[in-house]
Amino acid sequence: MRIRSFIPFGGALLLMAVTLLCSCSEENPRSRTSFNTGWKFLLADDAGAAMADFDDSGWRMLDLPHDWSIEGEFSVTNPATPGGGALPGGIGWYRKTFTVDTAEKDRLLYIEFDGVYRNSEVWINGHHLGKRPYGYSSFRYDLTPWLKQGSEENTVAVRVDNSLQPNSRWYSGSGIYRNVWLVATGKTAVDHWGTFITTPEVSADKALVRIEASIRNLTGAAEKVSLVSSVYDADNRKVASVVTKNLQLTDTVTVVKQEVNVENPLLWSDRDPNLYRVVTDIIRSGKLADRYETITGIRSFEFNADRGFILNGKETKILGVCNHHDLGFLGAAVNTRAIERQLEILKEMGCNAIRTSHNPPAPELLDLCDRMGFIVMDEAFDMWKLSKTKYDYSLDWDLWWKRDLEDMILRDRNHPGVIIWSIGNEILEQWDSTGTEMAMDLAATVRSLDDTRPVTSGCNDPNPWNYIIKSGALDLIGFNYHDSLWVRFPETFPGQKFIGTETGSALATRGSYAMPSDSVRRWPLRWDIPFREGNAEMSCSSYDNCSAPWGSTHEESWKLIKANNFLSGMFYWTGFDYLGEPTPYPWPARSSYFGIVDLAGFPKDPYYMYQSEWTDKPVLHIFPHWNWNPGQTVDVWAYTNCDEVELFLNDKSLGVKSKTEGEFHIAWRVPYEPGRITAVGKVKGKETLRTEVKTAGEPAAITLTPDRSVISAGGTDLSFITVTVVDKENNQVPWAENLIQFAVEGNATVAGVDNGSQISMEPFKADYRKAFHGKCLVVIKAGEKAGDVKVTASSEGLGSAVADLQIR
Ligand code: GAL
Repeated sequence: MRIRSFIPFGGALLLMAVTLLCSCSEENPRSRTSFNTGWKFLLADDAGAAMADFDDSGWRMLDLPHDWSIEGEFSVTNPATPGGGALPGGIGWYRKTFTVDTAEKDRLLYIEFDGVYRNSEVWINGHHLGKRPYGYSSFRYDLTPWLKQGSEENTVAVRVDNSLQPNSRWYSGSGIYRNVWLVATGKTAVDHWGTFITTPEVSADKALVRIEASIRNLTGAAEKVSLVSSVYDADNRKVASVVTKNLQLTDTVTVVKQEVNVENPLLWSDRDPNLYRVVTDIIRSGKLADRYETITGIRSFEFNADRGFILNGKETKILGVCNHHDLGFLGAAVNTRAIERQLEILKEMGCNAIRTSHNPPAPELLDLCDRMGFIVMDEAFDMWKLSKTKYDYSLDWDLWWKRDLEDMILRDRNHPGVIIWSIGNEILEQWDSTGTEMAMDLAATVRSLDDTRPVTSGCNDPNPWNYIIKSGALDLIGFNYHDSLWVRFPETFPGQKFIGTETGSALATRGSYAMPSDSVRRWPLRWDIPFREGNAEMSCSSYDNCSAPWGSTHEESWKLIKANNFLSGMFYWTGFDYLGEPTPYPWPARSSYFGIVDLAGFPKDPYYMYQSEWTDKPVLHIFPHWNWNPGQTVDVWAYTNCDEVELFLNDKSLGVKSKTEGEFHIAWRVPYEPGRITAVGKVKGKETLRTEVKTAGEPAAITLTPDRSVISAGGTDLSFITVTVVDKENNQVPWAENLIQFAVEGNATVAGVDNGSQISMEPFKADYRKAFHGKCLVVIKAGEKAGDVKVTASSEGLGSAVADLQIR
């Protein structure tokens, strides 16, 4: 197999796994190469920059994906406002030059953008290709008509305008923050997002796989071709294939439908995410004219008004979280390993579903969800025509909604993990009579491209008078909050099916505890009036005793979802803290408190409540830390799935306790004395787990714990190193805020730092960070080449610690 095609100037040629998997020895005229490296960037506007001969020699060099906002400084005066993350926006330009081999003249060349925030305009050699306002859509342009071949240079110029703000209720990032690709095909080829693979009949013995391929014929003449579709299993064995001969391609796009049976299929599920690969070959005059590959999965599902979600015949609760797209220290800049790490942390908790709130996600997220077993609710919009912030997408709505919605469905409809389409979140037309017709138009648009998945919308007024619900356009009633209404849903909406599109909005700061633990605090009293009181640290307690007043604690909502089969599941708001929307505190808080996991990726305590409920592994997590004032009464909680837990304070038993029905934690009220608390968990009378927390002394040293010590060369892989400030007996010091300095030797760099504090003004792009409640994070990015890397962390009075990494 070869890759011919052009080599982008100064760029590394990356091949998609898809191309590498090609089992046919014939050359595939199609290629897909990364177009991320070697761009020039200017953070300013310059009208001349669209022209090919513009002098960009003074511009900064960088590789994509790139988010310029995350490189800026937090300020309350940034037009994004703290709600948008308080980081700068503005206008930026990107330019890249490349050459194209003369042998390419029979091929078409496209540039594909996975996402640019926002208002992007693209030029090739001074020719304007188009504009895309929505910052979350993927799109492509045909470069062919304006390309120069041979040694002459081509220039792509991209203008990105994120100057009019606020335009988002959360941190958006700015720039070409997702991947860019160059795709070359022959003139007869599968169209952009040109396959649609469904599995209308699935049983243990057999699955019917339906393949729809859209073939684009740009030869200018009628063509006669055959279409061969082959299904391969995960071991690359061909398990089925189908041929359609003598296809006459007269129009520019011809849709071909095929069906094939797969015997004894390995089904896709959240627990067992088996995948297949469909290879679509177009054969013309006995030669391969195009080979296109689609990853798919075989599964059946339904939503049932009484039994909830049923996957492959089995009742399966959707145990999901909502997430925004930012990756903490990376901002919006996509990095596959950073997304994978988030998903690993959530999987470990027992989570099986993601809501891409409130926009189409990076394609890499969906690939990972397919592979790792996450059900996805893929969401299009946070607003329709009625705006939520002054300069948001509502301004583009009339011209763009249909195109953006169609592009999301076309791009994402082959992912087995995608199970629900959402046409919008908390859309204000819920209360406006226009909402009825709009909901019907949007849902019809979705169904015209995919009628195999239900359509929902996150309704924060889940009542019969809601214009969107009333339209009848929704297959699933998506409800945001309003826990008190849930049990009455079957009477309120007879025969309907339900999904908790958003639950919770509990608030917590990792390592912060407010007692008494059983009194619940709800702030802010109104979402639109900043909350000005509270504690000086602007923290929220991690005892699961804080929530937004429109929401609930973790336990409150899980109790209802668990107990009611007709509720097919939930998407807790949110899996991870995110930049922007600092509720309940105002500036200088600059990121959210809703996460089960903080912005650095460190779990807060309620993580273990879910783990004890959502997984089968033995769990015994006790908290808080054990540094209090003598004589103080301290609430000790255990999240566990053991039958019983005995708690000891300095080896004295404080009694054995068990959870009763509908309870999700065990608590003791303990008169504090320094030393240690020990929890012993028993199952069927036998000790299975023992957890201990000790009183920590003064900070004495640093420990470094990489999530992976061996990472891949190539300039994108990451090692996430947890940095812990410990006393001389290696106990984490719960109040430690020591400033840690990082140094890297070898072919790697610091990609970013964080500590999960929601009010830190320190930059994410730095080689230092203060610890927060005893911990911080340093992320190391592999260079292009293999080799050994030494990461040193040091701090005054704590000495230094070293982590050795290998880049392979
Ligand atoms: C919801 C909204 C989310 C987020 C959340 C915070 O109403 O859909 O985007 O703002 O509130 O609690």
